[in-house]
Amino acid sequence: MAIKTIFVVGAGFMGAGIAQVGAQAGYEMLLYDISSEAVDKGFNTAKKNLSRNVEKGKLTQEVMDKTMSLIKPSTSLNDGAKADLVIEAVFENLDIKNEIFSTLDGVCPPNTILATNTSSISISTIANSVKRKDKFIGMHFFSPVPVMRLCEIINGINTSAETYKIAEEVAQKMGKETVKAKDVPGFIVNRINAALRQECYRCMEEGVATPQDIDKALKAGLNHPMGPFELGDFVGLDVGYNVINTLYNAYKEPKWAPNLTLEKLVKAGDYGRKTGKGWYDYTSGERKSRTDVSF
Ligand SMILES: NC(=O)c1ccc[n+]([C@@H]2O[C@H](COP(=O)([O-])OP(=O)(O)OC[C@H]3O[C@@H](n4cnc5c(N)ncnc54)[C@H](O)[C@@H]3O)[C@@H](O)[C@H]2O)c1
Repeated sequence: MAIKTIFVVGAGFMGAGIAQVGAQAGYEMLLYDISSEAVDKGFNTAKKNLSRNVEKGKLTQEVMDKTMSLIKPSTSLNDGAKADLVIEAVFENLDIKNEIFSTLDGVCPPNTILATNTSSISISTIANSVKRKDKFIGMHFFSPVPVMRLCEIINGINTSAETYKIAEEVAQKMGKETVKAKDVPGFIVNRINAALRQECYRCMEEGVATPQDIDKALKAGLNHPMGPFELGDFVGLDVGYNVINTLYNAYKEPKWAPNLTLEKLVKAGDYGRKTGKGWYDYTSGERKSRTDVSF
């Protein structure tokens, strides 16, 4: 089955990125959200990203215009009727995702493939909201989507081999490297990255090193582009906290128990860059070590 039109549900951070890389690959991308303001925001994010590439001389204005013309706004789930593939990227909430997929199952043509970009919910669980379980799959992109090279492809229990093949081809055409992951909490990357972060928290609490020195050590010693504390603040400590809780609730093993200092920061509303403070303090406009908390 040839994929031509992709319906992206959710025009937030991930949806906008997916619409951009899809259009760059030549797909017609319908970008849907609950309001036209939210769709415009996603559209403008893609436009800004591409403009930056034009300014840097990485892209011609002509290619950018052609790419943007492939991204069409939508505020109606009925546009799912035009799609060969749906990629859902709304809030990480099972009830919302179930409702959207159950509606789309009735709207989309029988051959349309339904994919979710969930980071932490089981693919088979979301697939239970549709009848076409063989055509339901996980396509887990990484942020920022135009920059990160990976897309994990995750089969649910009932996903067909044909669906897997199509999802893999689409992701590869979007310029992504693909890996096949089992439908387990955290899939591959988030699970391994969470284990690394847990060990970093232990080192910090045992006084082995400060967050700044752990960040420095992993950048200079392992060539990580960002340290784990910096990255946590960048992505949002609330997001990391949800991931670790998902792993802990699934496996019930002490190694996944949420770190208490992380929990304290999240409960205090210190989510990182987006709130001004996390492991570091950004309120002055620069990243500074926190002096009001002893780590
Ligand atoms: N941010 C990341 O680093 C990242 C990485 C990989 C996967 N994900 C996953 O991608 C999904 C989206 O994450 P995000 O960071 O883009 O979130 P976001 O908050 O930036 O965007 C979510 C969008 O969903 C829209 N939305 C909410 N309810 C909706 C509904 N009922 N119908 C249509 N749209 C609705 C919101 O208006 C918003 O625009 C989540 O499942 C998340 O777990 C996120």
